[in-house]
Amino acid sequence: MLSRELWTRIVNIIERDGPIPFSRYMQMALYESGLGYYVNGLHKFGAAGDFVTAPEEGPLFGQALAALLDPLAETLGPDWTLLELGPGSGALARALLTSLDRPPARLLLLEPSAALREVQRECLAGLTDDLRGRVEWIDRPPAAFDGAIIGNEVIDALPVERFAIEDDGPYRLGVGVENGRPVERRLPADDRLRAALAAIEADLAAPLPPGYRSELCVDLAGWIETVTAPLERGAVVLADYGYPRREYYHPERSTGTLVCQYRHRAHFDPFCWPGLTDLSSFVDFTAVADGLVAAGLDPAGFTTQAGFLLGSGTLDRLEAIEDPAERARRTGEFKRLALPGEMGEKFKLIAATRGCALNEAPFLLADQRDRL
Ligand SMILES: C[S@@+](CC[C@H](N)C(=O)[O-])C[C@H]1O[C@@H](n2cnc3c(N)ncnc32)[C@H](O)[C@@H]1O
Repeated sequence: MLSRELWTRIVNIIERDGPIPFSRYMQMALYESGLGYYVNGLHKFGAAGDFVTAPEEGPLFGQALAALLDPLAETLGPDWTLLELGPGSGALARALLTSLDRPPARLLLLEPSAALREVQRECLAGLTDDLRGRVEWIDRPPAAFDGAIIGNEVIDALPVERFAIEDDGPYRLGVGVENGRPVERRLPADDRLRAALAAIEADLAAPLPPGYRSELCVDLAGWIETVTAPLERGAVVLADYGYPRREYYHPERSTGTLVCQYRHRAHFDPFCWPGLTDLSSFVDFTAVADGLVAAGLDPAGFTTQAGFLLGSGTLDRLEAIEDPAERARRTGEFKRLALPGEMGEKFKLIAATRGCALNEAPFLLADQRDRL
């Protein structure tokens, strides 16, 4: 029902204005008021949802981030602020607040979805009054602060443009309607897409060949600039699945990285059940690194999730767990987060700083900066 209502809304726009760019379709499929995937109030996260993120697996990811942020908190002093972008279920916020030796004076949760804010409120309800009292929800970046900005799996949820390279140049892929069904349409590439593609190709060994299809987040640098602008002194840490640019736009990855998730099954049809299916695309970490530098931040690390967990003392924390059953559970969690065939290599963390140093050790064990 919900999916049909959303599709009807999309069809009405296409019938009125003509085919829409894929980025507009993705924006509506994920965020259309009351109906989009992230705002419709249906369950998304964890075993009963559509996908499991690192903080959903258990506390280890949050504990590793806490180990990174505690020394920064010591430098910044007790009034430091933590801003989490796109907190999802609230699992990372909870793990951080309960793991940090020096919890922030304020934990700001930037969450556009009212439905997810309620999920986050419930997730944090069991915290002490003191910790819960530090949490504030915001719908736009706050005023200037000293502290840290974190975001796990937020960039992959930003709408992307899809493009196809043909013999006569690039096309922007869009969405039209045929017999009431969504169909892909080729639209002319606008100047923004052409400029973004030229910047990508300048980093590749050869131009993208005819027949090549992929996607890119044209608004990424602007988004990074906006969300990091309030940070006066501190660090930004963004985690997601993705590749450095030369691997992302590798000749063999010629159909792009867009992926849809429904009840723990991945599929590749973005028109299937809009509003009920998660749509996301892998992250071009070179674009993220460029965006952070363009926003005036200093690069501080780029590594795999496995490298980050190992480099920030996760094995010591596992060994210190006394209860054998709990240690076995957390060891299982560690394997899911860190094994190369699971989340260990595909997921990466990138960090940058402004006006202060970050403990770079967690980024050095599997340092990937030379691949950016
Ligand atoms: C894939 S979920 C990740 C949730 C959580 N960080 C985790 O790791 O489990 C994406 C989250 O980003 C939020 N989001 C989407 N666009 C956003 C934006 N422009 N700014 C901040 N958050 C955004 C979504 O509402 C959702 O909470």
